[in-house]
Amino acid sequence: MALPSPEREQWSSRLGFVLAAAGSAIGLGNIWRFPFKAGDNGGGAFVLIYLTCLVLLCVPYLFAELALGRNGKRNPVGAIRAIDARSPWPLVGGLCVVAGLAILSYYAVVAGWAVGYVLRDLVAAGAPDAVFARVIADPLWVVPLFGGFLFATAGVVAGGVRRGIERWAKILMPVLFVLLCLIIFRSVTLPGAGAGLDFYLTPDFSKVSGLVVVEALGQAFFSLSLGMGTMITYGSYLPDDENLIVSGGYVAAFDTLIALMAGLMIFPAVFAMGQNPAEGPSLVFVVLPDVFGAMPLGSFVGTLFFLLLAIAAFTSGISLLEVFVSYLVDETPWSRRAAAWGAGGIAFALGLPSALSQGAVPALSDLSWLVGDRFFGPSPGVLDVMDFLWGSVALVLSAALLSLFVGWVWGADEALTELRSGTGHTVGRVAGPVWCAAIKYAFPITILAVLVIDLLYDVL
Ligand code: PFF
Repeated sequence: MALPSPEREQWSSRLGFVLAAAGSAIGLGNIWRFPFKAGDNGGGAFVLIYLTCLVLLCVPYLFAELALGRNGKRNPVGAIRAIDARSPWPLVGGLCVVAGLAILSYYAVVAGWAVGYVLRDLVAAGAPDAVFARVIADPLWVVPLFGGFLFATAGVVAGGVRRGIERWAKILMPVLFVLLCLIIFRSVTLPGAGAGLDFYLTPDFSKVSGLVVVEALGQAFFSLSLGMGTMITYGSYLPDDENLIVSGGYVAAFDTLIALMAGLMIFPAVFAMGQNPAEGPSLVFVVLPDVFGAMPLGSFVGTLFFLLLAIAAFTSGISLLEVFVSYLVDETPWSRRAAAWGAGGIAFALGLPSALSQGAVPALSDLSWLVGDRFFGPSPGVLDVMDFLWGSVALVLSAALLSLFVGWVWGADEALTELRSGTGHTVGRVAGPVWCAAIKYAFPITILAVLVIDLLYDVL
């Protein structure tokens, strides 16, 4: 077990860690992606499959990332190097570090759209809502919003683990929860909301296919911020006597609670206003503004909703940037401040093509001449390509490799010892070996199968 360097920061308390890690996990994935995936894939049936994947695969893997981080007291590259410095394994940590920044580069673009909706609602309440395509195609809106989001993210990360990340998570997560409760209350009290609740909570197993299972697993995985080194990095700031099982369990529980609540917020309103719940990715940015436009108190609720979305994205963006920053701080002479602003600048440069790919620069809006339209859907823009490469492929690949590393190179037993430290008797005689088997076999095999099925499905 590596000792922390004297100046390495730690979370001030369990609550601080849980809120920061839940802030990472709760993001666009919960509020934007989860409801439309459930809407497309059989409502309650999808929710049940999602919960099964979460409990059987994703949560055990979350424990592995936390244990790896706390053991090494370093960023993902350093944490792997602390165990095996002379093999190519640290490159897997490098993949996490690079992918974190790449994901942030386009995640911040979508987050900027949410901020744009808040501002637009504030300056022009009640304006017609069919403006989504115009807003995201206008570089004079999109670039400052995207840049501003990254600027604020870098500012928080520059403040450090306790005074930046933890402090803001403690402020923003309760605000997010209150906003969510307010909007749910408005949504479920609309006349006709019951049909939405039925749709959301009644399982429709006729919609379930193998592919729905793949979707649910991928979603659970993205939602818990796995495979990207964020949980390794956040785990590295935990003290040795912290119970990883309990605190990781809280993070997973909060993340799931908020995703389930997001469905309660969205579907009753969508049904009450007679809209289609299976609208795919446009559900949040196109359908919901229409829903808000038609309901009593709609423009106020709409502003709150996009504020909620922006806050959720913000605490996730912070964790994505922190992975790269912790790498620079641990492995180079850069100060945290310089690293945060430098990494924010790189994310901005990397994200500009995505920001300009929604109509501002036609050459960036359709890359089918370069990448075809098999993997990325018809007329894929830079943002779609980035999301597929980093948000789907790199994320899943690095998670499979990380679990192989933990299970076979570090050794599942060693990892279990780390996991047990600080737990008292939480990991029992039966649970321990089951966890080892999950990390050595079940997780890498399932996740690689998901990757292959996903790729084959896109090709065929
Ligand atoms: N978990 C975030 C969400 O649900 O939106 C997305 C995410 C954040 C993925 C951080 C990966 C990550 F490292």
